[in-house]
Amino acid sequence: MYGHGAILLLTVRACKCCNIVPGCRYSSNGDTYSCSGTLWKENEFDNFNVDDRTSVKVIEICNIKKDSLNLHKINIKFPHLTNITIWQGNVNAITGTFLSGNQIKVLQLRDLSITHLPLKLLNSLINLEHLDLSGNRLQSLDAKMIQEINRIPSINITNNEWNCFLDLDWALKLNPNIVNKTNDFNCYQNPYGGKPIVAITHIKKDVQTSCPSKCECTLTDVVRDPSNLELEPIIEVNCSSRDFTHFPSVLPNKTKILLLDSNKIQSLEPLISNPIYEKVQDLNLDNNFISGIEDLEGSYWFLHFRSLSLRNNQLMHLPTYALDNALQVNPNMPDAVRLFLGENPWKCDCVFVVSFQDLLRKYKAQIFDIDEIKCSYIKNDYYPTILSLSRGEVCRLPSDSIRTLDLVNGVLASLIVLILGKLAYDYYHFKKTGRLPWIVTKIP
Ligand SMILES: *[C@@H]1O[C@H](CO)[C@@H](O)[C@H](O)[C@H]1NC(C)=O
Ligand SMILES: *[C@@H]1O[C@H](CO)[C@@H](O)[C@H](O)[C@H]1NC(C)=O
Ligand SMILES: *[C@@H]1O[C@H](CO)[C@@H](O)[C@H](O)[C@H]1NC(C)=O
Ligand SMILES: *[C@@H]1O[C@H](CO)[C@@H](O)[C@H](O)[C@H]1NC(C)=O
Ligand SMILES: *[C@@H]1O[C@H](CO)[C@@H](O)[C@H](O)[C@H]1NC(C)=O
Repeated sequence: MYGHGAILLLTVRACKCCNIVPGCRYSSNGDTYSCSGTLWKENEFDNFNVDDRTSVKVIEICNIKKDSLNLHKINIKFPHLTNITIWQGNVNAITGTFLSGNQIKVLQLRDLSITHLPLKLLNSLINLEHLDLSGNRLQSLDAKMIQEINRIPSINITNNEWNCFLDLDWALKLNPNIVNKTNDFNCYQNPYGGKPIVAITHIKKDVQTSCPSKCECTLTDVVRDPSNLELEPIIEVNCSSRDFTHFPSVLPNKTKILLLDSNKIQSLEPLISNPIYEKVQDLNLDNNFISGIEDLEGSYWFLHFRSLSLRNNQLMHLPTYALDNALQVNPNMPDAVRLFLGENPWKCDCVFVVSFQDLLRKYKAQIFDIDEIKCSYIKNDYYPTILSLSRGEVCRLPSDSIRTLDLVNGVLASLIVLILGKLAYDYYHFKKTGRLPWIVTKIP
């Protein structure tokens, strides 16, 4: 069936119906009527008599200047048509449908500016073998029309302005035998421009069905993997400010960007244990309750992430060696890695700060908010940025642990004073009364 259509297509495509001399004319054998470059009206065929018109089987109209074209009126004038080719020109609307009992086998409406088709255009075209709607400005097809299209052996609907932001169910209903043989059945608008509609439709469906219920999932782009030319979806999942206490347990496959900021998340553990997170490259966890990233050490995710934002969490310390090791092997280094660590209650004790400063200096190109990484508390309203502290200053600062030591020293000192006082008292008492202190009398 299709083979026949393909042969047919070659013959009709070879047609050179655009005559450079404007006007309408009969071909010599009398069954072809062709017009080009005229201000043409469907009901003005004054130069032909009725007999001439009823013998016409092929009509070729090229480069006409006309907004809307009424197929019904043409069919009434030419009742025995088998091939209709209307191409080039500025026709943007098709109106009217064909008479029942028509013999039309080929309908080509190509390289026009058609944006809409009459819903019942194809209903009476029961003999149609080839339909060419290529090179128009159609954005989608009506689902009701798909059934009619699917019984046509050969169609060409390439080079239209198919809108992949609209509901694409119609595209999935098209006969896959026909669509698979169509090379340029592509989306028109960016970001999907030039990408195959059927593949995009499947990806969009997957994104919607596996989206966590409270979140918003968007297919922001589709790119071709340069290594194998397969389509790679760029999926963004927005779960911002939705009261999550844990990472969502499902995500669309291949999610790359995940916004989980402003929730109540404490644990990063799912990044290691749940394989759907392996492909998440950009993760925003600002404004949560995360107190450590130790869990991530050695995980696949930690070695492959692109962007990690942990602003305004509960971070006091960080395993600097682990982060350093991870960044050294991360394939996105140095240009694509972005880290955000500001507005956390960093604890400025001598041991941690020295290694943290080394880390900040080493990766200052990757840490985007380095000026907002500050000590949580040192003394009255003094929150220095960690990078600005000199080593000497850090280790002299009264941090919490130093205060604890001071307290212990104080207690020990008072105990010494107390014991010396007691000794002095006992000595004085012994001299005066000759009696040994009570404790000495008890020692054998
Ligand atoms: C008209 O269509 C038939 C197929 O039905 C095809 O064989 C023929 O070549 C076409 N004629 C023109 C002039 O396009
Ligand atoms: C469909 O039409 C376009 C021109 O608009 C042409 O380039 C392409 O080869 C046609 N496709 C098929 C399968 O005939
Ligand atoms: C059409 O192509 C898709 C993949 O591109 C394939 O899964 C499907 O089986 C094909 N259908 C037919 C009828 O060839
Ligand atoms: C996601 O991937 C898993 C495993 O590869 C597969 O079982 C599942 O069907 C996929 N889901 C979708 C919606 O493609
Ligand atoms: C994510 O969703 C929230 C809430 O609906 C919205 O305010 C925010 O602008 C969204 N963010 C992005 C990057 O789309």
